[in-house]
Amino acid sequence: MKTIIEPFKIKMVEQIKMTTRQERQRYLEEAGYNLFLVKAENVLIDLLTDSGTAAMSAEQWAAAMRGDEAYAGSRSFERFEAVVRDIFGFKHIIPTHQGRAAERILFSVMCKKGDIVPNNTHFDTTRANIEYLGAEAVDLVIPEGRQPSLLHPFKGNMDTTALRELIARLHPRRIPLGMITITNNSGGGQPVSMANIREVKQILSQYNIPLYIDACRFAENAYFIKLREEGYSNRSVKEIAREMFSYADGCTFSAKKDGLANIGGFLATNNDVLAQQEKDLLILTEGFPTYGGLAGRDLDAIAVGLEEVLHEDYLQYRIVSTRYLGDHIAREGVPIVQPPGGHAIYIDARGFLPHIPPNQFPGQALVAELYLEAGIRSVEIGSVMFGRIDKETGEEHFAPMELVRLAIPRRVYTQSHIDYVVEAIIEVFKRRESIRGFKIVYQAPFLRHFTARFEPV
Ligand code: F0G
Repeated sequence: MKTIIEPFKIKMVEQIKMTTRQERQRYLEEAGYNLFLVKAENVLIDLLTDSGTAAMSAEQWAAAMRGDEAYAGSRSFERFEAVVRDIFGFKHIIPTHQGRAAERILFSVMCKKGDIVPNNTHFDTTRANIEYLGAEAVDLVIPEGRQPSLLHPFKGNMDTTALRELIARLHPRRIPLGMITITNNSGGGQPVSMANIREVKQILSQYNIPLYIDACRFAENAYFIKLREEGYSNRSVKEIAREMFSYADGCTFSAKKDGLANIGGFLATNNDVLAQQEKDLLILTEGFPTYGGLAGRDLDAIAVGLEEVLHEDYLQYRIVSTRYLGDHIAREGVPIVQPPGGHAIYIDARGFLPHIPPNQFPGQALVAELYLEAGIRSVEIGSVMFGRIDKETGEEHFAPMELVRLAIPRRVYTQSHIDYVVEAIIEVFKRRESIRGFKIVYQAPFLRHFTARFEPV
């Protein structure tokens, strides 16, 4: 059979509210053209994020009903810990309410002012948590990873030459840890190869620098390794995942992605001393180490989600259906980050709207237009998110790429929803020359994309 079907059927539905173009124009204006400020009920197809938006399975809901809400030592934690240990293999597993809580605790314990943390590409919360401590977050993705149209099987790889140079230039003592983000979300949802993880570990080990993995989309990354890296086609995704984590000293994880859950995460480490400090901090803000800001039912839902996410028919559907969206718009000439990543399609807004300069935010213009055209919510990953104003000179710095991300929630939309998205993008592409840019009229001092307000130029 040629058609790869969704490997599930639907037993509960959620109504989508239809809106007119006129209504959407009004909602946009009210939200200052920032889609984070538009109400979800006024969105037809919500591709803002794949985070916390998955549909849970019947088995996950059943597990949630078994949740043990004991404050300390709950059975839910035991089940959660057993599954996490089986896949990730780390000694200490510390639940948190989501990924960024794990990041905050990890960096608070390991980093101080003046330190440097290399990563293939830091996600925005990772970068912000490092910078908040006065340390510096450095992105070292391979040069291919910065060129949207270039094909490469593992475009998320870290540039190991650049990593060596960074360590040589600084004192290794200034690098408390190195990180690898799998898949590389901010660089297009691109995978990292096993060979690259192994090499990064080897380089860092020479200087006793620990390696932590930002593991949000580990199952998608493992499946890409199975498909694309020599020697892995006959290995199970779980075995591949275990090997990936065997090179790391710990990880941060947001269960809102490949945990197939709506909330949750964890921090893991093999270091006994750090684990104790991390648990102490956890108690301060998240909760006791056997629940870490989560209900027992959440821990149970994650435990089941982590097993389901490794099913290969699920992963095949996931990767193929994401590619389906990418291939159908690319075929019509829409410039996208190639090849399609695991959880999202990234449109190259600079290529889509070459007449809009970076200071008029081409990505934001495209995001607003897709909402207006069809009620689709996407997110700008460009100069609104990563640009910044120099505090001394007042000069605006722009992001290296102006991307628009269409993130696909897991197990939520069917092929006809995606066909509708394809049609809308092609329609907007046809009249792209008439689309205008934006200026920012309000912005917060950090993570400005969440609350900024815009006006059309
Ligand atoms: N790391 C990566 C690579 C991420 O993509 C995210 C979240 C986090 C860390 C933080 O996890 O949200 O649970 O605190 N990414 C979401 C997104 C928000 O839309 O890409 P969190």
